[in-house]
Amino acid sequence: MAAFPPLKNDLIIRASRGEKVERVPVWIMRQAGRYLPEFHEVRKHHSFFEICRTPELACELTLQPIDRYGSLLDASIIFSDILVIPQAMGLEVQMVPGRGPVFPAPLVTPADFERMHKHVDVDKELDYVYKAITLTRHKLEGRVPLYGFTGAPWTLMAYMIEGGGSKTLSKAKAWLWQHPAETHDLLQRITDVAVTFLVGQVRAGAQMLQVFDSWAGELGPYDFKKYSLPYIKQISTRVKKELKEAGLDVVPMTIFAKGAWYALEDLTNIEYDVVSLDWTIDPEYARKVTKDQVVLQGNMDPNTLYAPFDTIRETATRMVKAFGKDSKHIGNLGHGILPTVDPEALRVYLETIQTVSAEIRK
Ligand code: CP3
Repeated sequence: MAAFPPLKNDLIIRASRGEKVERVPVWIMRQAGRYLPEFHEVRKHHSFFEICRTPELACELTLQPIDRYGSLLDASIIFSDILVIPQAMGLEVQMVPGRGPVFPAPLVTPADFERMHKHVDVDKELDYVYKAITLTRHKLEGRVPLYGFTGAPWTLMAYMIEGGGSKTLSKAKAWLWQHPAETHDLLQRITDVAVTFLVGQVRAGAQMLQVFDSWAGELGPYDFKKYSLPYIKQISTRVKKELKEAGLDVVPMTIFAKGAWYALEDLTNIEYDVVSLDWTIDPEYARKVTKDQVVLQGNMDPNTLYAPFDTIRETATRMVKAFGKDSKHIGNLGHGILPTVDPEALRVYLETIQTVSAEIRK
């Protein structure tokens, strides 16, 4: 296999390792997505999971924001979805326009484990993601590093039981009380798949990894410690160990546990290099709690991108300054960019983070 083109911008990798860098690197969760007209152009002709499963299309969509914003983005993230794991485990997932992901037959009771594969051949089932990553690494031509990712076990379990989005997660949370042993069984199965999948993504060319626990905040502090923390910790420790043993690069890892402000201290001690913050956490508070032991990522409210451009500049400037001139900070939003945002508003946000942080670090 041909070697990958050399990396020309490694700012975000150095920042993730906690090194002092010249300015704050920045990327955006869901940066390849529906706010871009060029995304809709491709999406018109292909279904969502067809794009995920076609390396050329997944690569094209991954590159769209990099082509559009040029040096204003310091990383790319492979176009895929966290729900490719439940699919690999044997459950059907559809992407329904206007509704989002839908499982036609979610897990109702533990008897439904019968409908999942007993043994998941992760590398075979998810080979299409690896192929997309390898192709994208070539097509990026070293402009920026490429993130691979996975959903966290709790968030994926919740989707598998709820069958889609939910306001209360009451079906998934009922399982915690009604089927405690099978809950841990399911969380462990997802963890095992996620570990192999992340290692495989690095083998394929991913240079950074992020774990999305989007529904962490639905658990309280006690339940988070029981149902999420041990599994996301297993993921980081096992992935790093397996990468080392395989002679692969031990790439920086990020955890995004949305809504889990109460777990911030715990999240600094589970072998992730970067902790991604949602917008409800004050940067100065986060620095105090995490004591500079990890790099912090985030965290403007994605809805602020609907504000007038001057307000976006002001808010982004305040955010950069709150993380501090000596802080270990990676710019991002506090959650994914929303589909109806003006792409030019994002440009203002990216520009502000890069210029203001370079200025205060001089
Ligand atoms: O640009 C990127 O960030 C890379 C691609 C990416 C997608 N989904 C593409 C996508 C990533 C990293 C994800 C992660 C993901 N998927 C998460 C974790 C991040 C988060 O937002 O909390 C979750 C919870 C999902 C599950 C999911 N996929 C939902 C709830 C939805 C529908 C609602 C929505 O926000 O779009 C999706 C669909 C999806 N995933 C789209 C894209 C571009 C839109 C699908 C379409 O074209 O119809």
